[in-house]
Amino acid sequence: MSIQTIGIIGAGQMGSGIAQVCAQNGYTTFLTDAAQEFVDRGAARILGAWDTMESKGKISHDDVLLYRSRLRPTMNLQDYVACDVVIEAIIENKAEKVKIFRALDDLLRPEALLLSNTSSISLTEIAAVTKRADRVAGLHFFNPAPVMKLVEIVRALETSDATVETLKEFAASLGKTAVIAKDTAGFIVNFLLIPYLLAAIRMYENGTASMEDIDTAMKLGTGYPMGPFTLADYVGLDTTLFAAEVIYADNPDPAYAPPPLLKRMVAAGRLGKKSGRGFYTYE
Ligand code: CAA
Ligand code: NAD
Repeated sequence: MSIQTIGIIGAGQMGSGIAQVCAQNGYTTFLTDAAQEFVDRGAARILGAWDTMESKGKISHDDVLLYRSRLRPTMNLQDYVACDVVIEAIIENKAEKVKIFRALDDLLRPEALLLSNTSSISLTEIAAVTKRADRVAGLHFFNPAPVMKLVEIVRALETSDATVETLKEFAASLGKTAVIAKDTAGFIVNFLLIPYLLAAIRMYENGTASMEDIDTAMKLGTGYPMGPFTLADYVGLDTTLFAAEVIYADNPDPAYAPPPLLKRMVAAGRLGKKSGRGFYTYE
């Protein structure tokens, strides 16, 4: 199938990053969110990233103009009728995602692919509310989407071979390396990453070491680019908590049980870098 037009739902950290990647790689890209202010903020983040790339000499001014011409921020979901592929990247909440999938299934052309960037939620359950389960799959990008080279293609029970093949080609067209995972909670990366982040929080709760020392130890001792507290703040403590809850519900291993401190921090609105405060404080 020929893909020319992409729609992204959710203009937060991930949705805006994915829209940026799509527009840079030749696709007309619609971007929407629940309110105009969030669309504006997501679009401003993308334009800012292109300005930075231009100022570093990585792209020309003509590139910026071309990329901008492909980006279509909108509050009108009807615009998505033109889309060949829609990627949902709203908050990690199954009920909200299901509502979006129902609405899009009614709106989109039958051949369009309907994808989710979910970190953990079952694609098979989401696909079941649509009439196009063969064309529903996970396309899981990593934060920051414009930089991280991986996407996980998550194959739900009813996802067709043709959809998986199209997604492999689409991922390559975005400059990403694709891996394929079955629809199990957490897929590949988060099944391994989430218990590591939770173990670091438990280690801090137990008083083994300070957050700063745990971060330093994992950066310098293992070569990770960020320590676990910096990374959890970067991912978002809400996303980390919701993903842990989903994986734990599917796979009740205590390693996935969210520690009390994480729950309390999210309850207090300390969501990490995006809210200005998580384990650390940000300008
Ligand atoms: N958008 C676009 N470009 C960005 C960017 C962004 N948000 N953030 C950084 N960059 C670019 C910078 O401009 C810079 O480019 P140049 O080298 O060409 O100048 C390059 O990326 C490196 O950035 P920095 O020099 O600012 O900083 P860094 O070298 O420390 O790298 C990082 C930043 C790439 C985020 C790195 O710290 C890193 O890889 N961290 C780990 C991130 C990670 O593990 N992500 C996965 C999280 S799990 C997940 O996403 C799945 C889930 O479901 C929760
Ligand atoms: P975020 O909080 O930065 O953004 C979520 C956006 O969704 C917000 O702008 C919010 O206004 C919008 N939204 C909420 N309900 C909506 C609705 N009904 N319609 C339209 N927009 C709605 O979160 P994020 O980090 O961008 O995560 C988005 C998705 O990507 C989640 O499913 C998350 O699990 C997944 N994900 C996150 C990361 C990460 O590191 N943060 C990495 C990979 C995947």
